Amino acid sequence: MRHNHHDQERASRARPKTSLHERFSDEARFIKAWLENPGSTGAVSPSGKYLARTMARYVDTSIPGKIIELGPGTGPVTQALIQHGVPADRLILVEYDPAFCRLLERRFPGATVIQGDAYDLDTTLSGLINEPIAAVVSSLPLLNRPEKDRCTLVSDAFALLSPGGRFIQFTYGMVSPVPRRPKSCRPVAFEAEASQPILLNIPPARVWVYRPASAGAKAKRPHPAVAMISKLREGTGRVKDEILDTRDRIETEIRLAKDRVRLDLQRRTVQMRDEPALALLRRLGDGKRKSRKS
Ligand SMILES: C[S@@+](CC[C@H](N)C(=O)[O-])C[C@H]1O[C@@H](n2cnc3c(N)ncnc32)[C@H](O)[C@@H]1O
Repeated sequence: MRHNHHDQERASRARPKTSLHERFSDEARFIKAWLENPGSTGAVSPSGKYLARTMARYVDTSIPGKIIELGPGTGPVTQALIQHGVPADRLILVEYDPAFCRLLERRFPGATVIQGDAYDLDTTLSGLINEPIAAVVSSLPLLNRPEKDRCTLVSDAFALLSPGGRFIQFTYGMVSPVPRRPKSCRPVAFEAEASQPILLNIPPARVWVYRPASAGAKAKRPHPAVAMISKLREGTGRVKDEILDTRDRIETEIRLAKDRVRLDLQRRTVQMRDEPALALLRRLGDGKRKSRKS
């Protein structure tokens, strides 16, 4: 079947509802992984959709090439990337935990899932990358690693990027998780920008976007028309995302209100049902006393 532009747009932004059961299962999987390996899991629950969407929004889908996601876990950011318009077959998902890898394979058919170490990209991606990549999107708990590992990771990722490509990372910390002036290793020359704190995530987080310093300098002087078009596109994307966020919030409010009404009704029904039950109990109690007397 042929799809026109609007169908494609709608399909790419259509958000499959994650069932309550699925969400609880993901929470349980995460807690299990965290209990087994707190240092590398780095969080007790998957990222919320606001954080995941903010990460995805920083990916420029018009840059050709693969997009590498590091530490996808149960896939909330992967899902947001797909909704942002990244086809699954452009995604390479690098995850350490074998159980998460199996889940990702089931959940995102078409994506390449690699069970391996993100801090050793040369080995992990060997034979997979034959053209520059568009972006690296990382949810790795960077702050649990020494400065040297963080700098090596970013500089290895920069070596794979297309001009204009970005390394996108979230953190629960207050400052950039990639140090500008590390004490224990060679610094990486980068340009960085940070998102507003995402307060709706638990715990609140921030997204950092890094570009190789020279690419950043070039990217600062695009043709005015190109700059305007890209600004307009970013603006439109942000407005669409804000509409989606608002719709989600309204849906959540409605669901909570419905739950409150349902609970209230249940309580009342129980109370109403209790009356005859209590009367029966009272009568039974009377009966016992009478029979004891006789
Ligand atoms: C904080 S969780 C984020 C998961 C998911 N992206 C999310 O936002 O909910 C970090 C993930 O990185 C994975 N991870 C940690 N160290 C890794 C490594 N060296 N290589 C690949 N994945 C790693 C963990 O298994 C975990 O799934």
